[in-house]
Amino acid sequence: MGKDLAIKNFQTTIGGEKTDLFFLENHHGVRAAVTNYGARVVAIWMPDKNGELDNIAAGYSRIEDYLEHKEIYLGATVGRFANRIRDAKFTLNGNVYRLSPNEGYNQLHGGPNGFHQQVWTAEQESPNILKLHCLSEDGTDGYPGNLEVTVTYILDDRDELTIEYSAVSDKDTILNVTNHTYFNLGGETGKRKVRNHRVTINADQYLPVDEHLLPVGKKEGVSGTSFDFRQPKTMKEGLAENHHQLEHGDGYDHHFILKKKASNNYEQAASVVDPFSGRGIEVTTTEPGMQFFECEFADESGLNLGSAFCLETQHFPDSPNQPGFPSTVLKAGDRFYSKTGYQFYVLKVEM
Ligand code: GAL
Repeated sequence: MGKDLAIKNFQTTIGGEKTDLFFLENHHGVRAAVTNYGARVVAIWMPDKNGELDNIAAGYSRIEDYLEHKEIYLGATVGRFANRIRDAKFTLNGNVYRLSPNEGYNQLHGGPNGFHQQVWTAEQESPNILKLHCLSEDGTDGYPGNLEVTVTYILDDRDELTIEYSAVSDKDTILNVTNHTYFNLGGETGKRKVRNHRVTINADQYLPVDEHLLPVGKKEGVSGTSFDFRQPKTMKEGLAENHHQLEHGDGYDHHFILKKKASNNYEQAASVVDPFSGRGIEVTTTEPGMQFFECEFADESGLNLGSAFCLETQHFPDSPNQPGFPSTVLKAGDRFYSKTGYQFYVLKVEM
């Protein structure tokens, strides 16, 4: 997709609503492109150690491609419930809510009419701030309450792309949001495998999963396992440690419990560095957990990056059915707030 994207390739109508493309930029030349279709990151251009700008986010250069291809969560805002809910149902205030299943009997990422499929209204306040708004109606995919959601993207001069989520419902409901950007810090031109990236995750524990990638309910220590990223190691090194849990995710597709001084604190979650380009990302969040997912894209996906990883900050998967997990209940009239920052940096010296 090169250093630019054609806005006209994103201007169409989906479900009667107009889609568009917006650019955020700071004073250092770091830029991001976001479409209001799914409140989704389309591209992030950042320099490498030689000052070469490249796009490090998986995306397409035409909106049609987003509609035609099967990677539907690319860069998107995900909700009402990011990650999986077992048997697509939960109980709240004594009522059983049945959700639309979209992965076998389970629900993934909010269901077929999740936030990623909505056309959001967008308001660009300044060259570095974009505010997107959407109403998820009472009963959408089985969720109770009319839910007003605002997502704000801010790209500051510290090269941090901050995403703030705010929401209010008119009935008690559940909510778990994330952003689903797939990164490859080698960029489009590098075409390198992300498994050579060096990862640090601030987590002593992770959630083991079953074959459906749903948590089995217990928390497990990472110490001495493939999931121990408390000291930096490459994904390749972690995979070589060959933990049996890696079979379920075909590699890493697991939820890490972030070590926090206090719940809801905005604290460092993870960092990832590509030793070749020198590009790095540091993730900070108010959320208690993070799904670390890495994958290879099939050739027929037509994507700009061959392999990628996601750092999806969020509450734990299947929380509504797991009494021991932090609550994802949003009471009627209460304001939900969550914030995650992706800070980009460049290592000038060879690692
Ligand atoms: C991730 C999830 C993966 C996969 C992906 C979407 O958040 O952990 O299992 O479903 O989304 O392709």
